[in-house]
Amino acid sequence: MNNDLSNYRKSYEKSELLLSTVPDNPMQLFQTWFYEIDNSGTTDEANAMTVSTIGLDGFPKSRVVLLKKYTHEGFIFYTNYNSEKGKAIANNNNVCISFFWHAAERQVIIKGKAEKIADNLSDGYFESRPKGSQLGAIVSNQSEVVERTDIEEKLKSLEVTYSDKPIPRPKHWGGFIIKPVEIEFWQGRANRLHDRIRYHLEEDYSWKIERLAP
Ligand SMILES: Cc1cc2nc3c(=O)[nH]c(=O)nc-3n(C[C@H](O)[C@H](O)[C@H](O)COP(=O)(O)O)c2cc1C
Repeated sequence: MNNDLSNYRKSYEKSELLLSTVPDNPMQLFQTWFYEIDNSGTTDEANAMTVSTIGLDGFPKSRVVLLKKYTHEGFIFYTNYNSEKGKAIANNNNVCISFFWHAAERQVIIKGKAEKIADNLSDGYFESRPKGSQLGAIVSNQSEVVERTDIEEKLKSLEVTYSDKPIPRPKHWGGFIIKPVEIEFWQGRANRLHDRIRYHLEEDYSWKIERLAP
């Protein structure tokens, strides 16, 4: 097999990012960028982000999840705490999340500490999900080896069990919040001279802002 992609080339020219105009707080810039991409009509699931963890086997692993909320404290997603990523985080809560918004020629890379959110917050979000997704969370021992027929049978039986009653959130399913320690904003520019602005959280909880070479 020889699939040579060396001619794939694109010039990034849509915008710029200047130290003189960025806000002091990176969450403010994240909010602006998220708002812009989400309202541009160009991007499905602008909240899809790649989460990388350090696994129990020592390898980093990345996978896509959906950002469900962000606040000044951090970025929240939901998952199975017993999944491969859940076990990785229990062992080492240093994680990295990243967004690539192709239409805006923008990337955001966030290093942070993952923590389980409070049970009542996970309960609230679980209750807001469609019934099918709630049952899916119960049926799937995420990341374990499985037969498709087994999960489908389990789903059918649970549909009967819960046909007339609310579905309780399984304790092994809930949210993680990623509290950022470093956030890098990347804006594509011409001639590969991209703009990269990095915010680093200092000991006094202020953000140090620096430009990085592309
Ligand atoms: C667009 C998209 C959104 C996803 N959203 C989630 C999510 O919010 N939570 C989740 O646990 N998995 C989500 N997944 C599935 C994960 O990528 C992954 O397969 C799963 O979490 C198991 O990962 P793990 O075995 O590394 O723990 C999503 C996948 C895609 C492609």
